[in-house]
Amino acid sequence: MTRAAVLSGLGGFVPPRVVTNDELARRLDTSDTWIRTRTGIAQRHVIAPGTTTSDLAAEAGRRALKSSGTDDVDLVVVATTTPDRICPATAPTVATRMGLVDVPAFDVAAVCSGFLYALHTAAAAVVAQLADSVLVIGAESFSTLLDPEDRTTSVIFGDGAGAVVLRAGESDEPGAVRDVRLGSDGSLADLITVRGGGAEHRSHGHTASDGDPYFRMMGKEVFRTAVQRMSESSRSVLARTGWEVADVDRLVAHQANTRIIQAVAEQLGLPPERALVNIDRVGNTSAASIPLALADGTVDGALGPGHRVLLTAFGGGATWGAATLVWPDLTAG
Ligand code: COA
Repeated sequence: MTRAAVLSGLGGFVPPRVVTNDELARRLDTSDTWIRTRTGIAQRHVIAPGTTTSDLAAEAGRRALKSSGTDDVDLVVVATTTPDRICPATAPTVATRMGLVDVPAFDVAAVCSGFLYALHTAAAAVVAQLADSVLVIGAESFSTLLDPEDRTTSVIFGDGAGAVVLRAGESDEPGAVRDVRLGSDGSLADLITVRGGGAEHRSHGHTASDGDPYFRMMGKEVFRTAVQRMSESSRSVLARTGWEVADVDRLVAHQANTRIIQAVAEQLGLPPERALVNIDRVGNTSAASIPLALADGTVDGALGPGHRVLLTAFGGGATWGAATLVWPDLTAG
């Protein structure tokens, strides 16, 4: 037995306002049928004006702390593509709002792979004895980044947050983060991007008010690369853990598109019913998607103690990854 980071708390939060496909079809050239059949999404949640990513993150974080029965952690890591501000990071705001005083807090930016990157960083901090407990949050207010006129992105993304608490424990305990494999390829940066507002944009003589401030995505290429990279990293992490594909009870893939999740299951040779799906209710919530799917899975009973769980994600960067753990006995807060 060795020291490991053990999942001891879980929480999810989506803002109350629901936007249905029909509502989008009233202002965009799209339809409920197209969105459902091409993506599996029926609705998404969207923040009210004035709400920000840190609001969603703090609520999910509170629920995760409640679920773990603690009110204190040594470190806060927030994965987000939609920070409250370009500078400073959102994590210190979240920590302060949660009453976590003087706690180190930082953001991780890996778009839809952000939660896995944050989980790996947090678990490594626990294993290295830099922290005994960490709050890991994936939070997005993606609606603030979408071009309201762009039907190819507006129908896909939603707002929300999910969080887990990791505590120091033993590697053979249920909930121990077993293995994580991550990867990236910066030559694919243009597949998923926001061009306006960053240092590159400003350095080329642009100001904050010109250029394209919106999220852009090359959907078809993202689809193909996401399936390939999530399948590869899943196989790689399974080999490291010593599990066969048949050992996997639950696949919790980034909720990008139901067809992507099904294609990954098919590539792996995993029965599709072992894949958790909540994209129909929340859309693609980027860095929040895996912890939100975990929280929903524990609430609706799809995920239970002893399940061998495979997590996998693909996102902008390009970034990707996969992780394994045996699900512990816990209730989402
Ligand atoms: N409503 C109606 N029609 C739409 C539409 C919408 N919201 N969005 C695109 N279309 C149209 C296209 O214009 C195209 O029309 P055309 O054939 O006349 O040119 C047609 O539908 C097919 O478009 P295409 O892009 O080939 O569709 P697709 O099957 O690849 O699905 C996505 C598009 C975006 C749903 C899909 O590519 C996808 O899910 N990609 C991954 C996105 C993702 O998850 N990104 C997050 C990071 S992991």
